Amino acid sequence: MQLKNKNLLQTQAYIDGAFSSAASGATFPVTNPYDGSKLAEVADCGAEDTERAIQAAAKAFKVWRKFSAGKRARILKAWYLLQIENAADLAQILTLEQGKPLGEAKGEIRYGASFVEWFAEEARRIYGDVIPGHQSDKRIMTIKQPVGVVAAITPWNFPSAMITRKVAPALAAGCTVVIKPSELTPLSALALAELATQAGFPPGVINIVTTNKAPEVGTAMTASPIVRKLSFTGSTMVGKLLLGQCAATVKKVSLELGGNAPFIVFDDADMDKAVAGAVAAKYRNAGQTCICANRIFVQSSVYDDFITRFTVAVKEQQLGDGMTAGTVVGPMIEEKAVCSVEAIVSDAKDKGGLVLTGGKRSGSGSSLLFEPTVVANATRDMKVFTTEIFGPVAPVFRFETEEEVIEMANDTEYGLASYFYGRDYARIWRVAEALEYGMVGINTGMISTTVAPFGGVKHSGFGREGSKYGMDDYLEIKYLCWGGVE
Ligand code: SIN
Repeated sequence: MQLKNKNLLQTQAYIDGAFSSAASGATFPVTNPYDGSKLAEVADCGAEDTERAIQAAAKAFKVWRKFSAGKRARILKAWYLLQIENAADLAQILTLEQGKPLGEAKGEIRYGASFVEWFAEEARRIYGDVIPGHQSDKRIMTIKQPVGVVAAITPWNFPSAMITRKVAPALAAGCTVVIKPSELTPLSALALAELATQAGFPPGVINIVTTNKAPEVGTAMTASPIVRKLSFTGSTMVGKLLLGQCAATVKKVSLELGGNAPFIVFDDADMDKAVAGAVAAKYRNAGQTCICANRIFVQSSVYDDFITRFTVAVKEQQLGDGMTAGTVVGPMIEEKAVCSVEAIVSDAKDKGGLVLTGGKRSGSGSSLLFEPTVVANATRDMKVFTTEIFGPVAPVFRFETEEEVIEMANDTEYGLASYFYGRDYARIWRVAEALEYGMVGINTGMISTTVAPFGGVKHSGFGREGSKYGMDDYLEIKYLCWGGVE
C-alpha cells in the first residue's frame, strides 16, 4: 500500500480510545479480492472483547451525552474534514480490500464523509415541542434524549459509508457506539477510527470490534442489556435473526436489508437517459448494492430499441482491477458470490433467457471478475425475478401495460429501491404512488444522497438513514407534564 498517512493502516481492534489485540491474541487475514494477496492480519475479537467495548461505550456515554450540541458538532466536523483530507488514502484502502474501482471508492469516501458533515449540523437542531395542555393548570413539553449505547453491524459493500451513515447520527444525538465491520473489509473501519482519535472524540465514544466470528460478536451485542439500539445493514436472513435476538432486551432496531429493485422503462421514456440510468443503477459496485436495479422491465413497443442500446453500453463497461485506471467494474467480493451469480445465469438460460453479452467469468486477471451481463427474454419463473442478484447481471423483462408492470414490480417480499423512466406526468404520479418501495427514482438511476431518507419497507427493513429523519432512530422522546401552574 502506498499511503501518505501510514497511520491509517491499523490492524487491531479499537476499544476505549486505543488500538488493542483480541483478548485471545487471535487474528484473521484480510485479502485483496482482485488477486487474493494478503493485505493484513487483523485482531479476531470474541465475546470478551465485545463486552469490554460495550463497557467502554457505557462509561463514555455518561460524558459524551453531557457535551453541548455545539461541542459534539465541532468534533464531528473535525472528523469530516480529516476524512476529506485523507480521501486518497482511505479510497486506496477501500479498493484494495473491497475491489471497487478507485474512482468509485473516492466517491464512497466523499459520500460517507457527507453524513458526518450533515449530522454535525443536525446535532444543533434536536428540538422538542411545547404542547397546549389538556387542563388549565397543565403545561406540556417534549424533549429528545440519546437512546444510549448503540451497536452497529455494517456490510462489506460500502465499508466506509455504511459506518458513517449510522455512526454520525448516533454520535450527533449523544449516543456512543460499538461497531462490528464485515470481516471482509475491517481496514476501512479502522482507518476511520484512527481519524476519530485525531478529531478528538473522547475514549470509548467510538469502538470497533473486528472479528471473523460474526455470530459470537453479534450475539454478545444483541444479548447485552447495556446496548439500547442495534442498527444493521445486510441480508434479510441475518436481519431477521438479529431482530429476534433483540426481542429479549427490547432494543430499538433499524434494519436496512435486501432489495429486488424494479427498473421500469415506459414507451415515452427518453431512451438515451433510460439506458444511462439502467447502466448506473445496475453496474455500480459490480452490481453489489442493495439498491441495484434487479429486474429491468421494458414496455413492448420500445423493448428492442432499449435492449440494443443497453447491450452496446454494457459492452463498454471496462472490467478489471479496481486499482487500474479505466476500470469501471471490479471483481466480485468472493468466490461464493460469483458461484451464486453463475447459478442465477444458468437458471435463466435453462428457462429460455438469451445472454446478449457476458454471462461468465472474464477468464483473465482474476477469478472473481464476472463479465457485465445482459439477459433478454427474462420471465417470472426465473430466479432473477425473485432473487437479489447482487452481481453484474441485468435481466430484461417485457411488459404491455402499466397495471401489469406495477403488479410484477410489487410481486416481491422486498421493498427497498425502485426506478422508472417516462414523461407522462399523471402516470409518473400514479406509478410513484403504486410502487411498494421506500425509495423511488423517477427518470434517474442514482438516488443515494445524504439529504434524503434511505430505507425500505416490507422485508427490506425499517428505519431511515440520512436526511432530517436520520437522527430519529437514535433519540427517545420524553414528555414532561407540569401540573399546578395556577
Ligand atoms: C447499500 O447497498 O446498502 C447502500 C447503497 C447506497 O447507499 O447507495
